[in-house]
Amino acid sequence: MWTYVSDTPERTFVLGRELGALLHRGDFLALNGPLGSGKTLFVKGIAYGMGMDPEEVTSPTFAFIQEYAGSLPLYHFDVYRLDVSEQLEDLGYEDYFFGHGVTVVEWAEFVTGYFPEEYLQVDFVKLGDTTRQICLTPHGVGFEKRTEQLKERMQRC
Ligand SMILES: Nc1ncnc2c1ncn2[C@@H]1O[C@H](COP(=O)(O)OP(=O)(O)OP(=O)(O)O)[C@@H](O)[C@H]1O
Ligand SMILES: [Mg+2]
Repeated sequence: MWTYVSDTPERTFVLGRELGALLHRGDFLALNGPLGSGKTLFVKGIAYGMGMDPEEVTSPTFAFIQEYAGSLPLYHFDVYRLDVSEQLEDLGYEDYFFGHGVTVVEWAEFVTGYFPEEYLQVDFVKLGDTTRQICLTPHGVGFEKRTEQLKERMQRC
């Protein structure tokens, strides 16, 4: 596990951007943390790091999922309002969670039973008005490596 303390919204964006550059086809990221803790901002950074326009990333709270096209597709879920078991299955979640793009889920704690075996868990805690603690817990060797790479990249920016 690696804990990063972000003291501005920009730093959270940069953390997402640097991670986005390391992501591969089939990756799954599980984001947790209270309202306004920075999950969507982090996803904007990921999108930018994957070569997409971060402005396109908005909270999919009412749609549950938004898909952004880039060299790899990015599937952005927010399952806060999801009546989990039924609606996730109606959505055909397997095509995303086990698909060819990168999947990022906000409020992932509501759907833990549906995760793939390997994933990166990212927990956000509000420490103050502009400070957030962001804990990255890799599940699987691939994400352990990439968490190390991310740590190194963040020392340079
Ligand atoms: N260090 C920081 N990192 C991230 N966001 C910050 C930080 N400091 C202040 N903020 C502010 O906190 C808010 C985070 O909003 P964001 O939509 O990313 O949260 P969220 O976790 O996705 O919430 P929700 O659960 O409602 O979807 C933004 O208004 C942002 O400007
Ligand atoms: Mg959000």
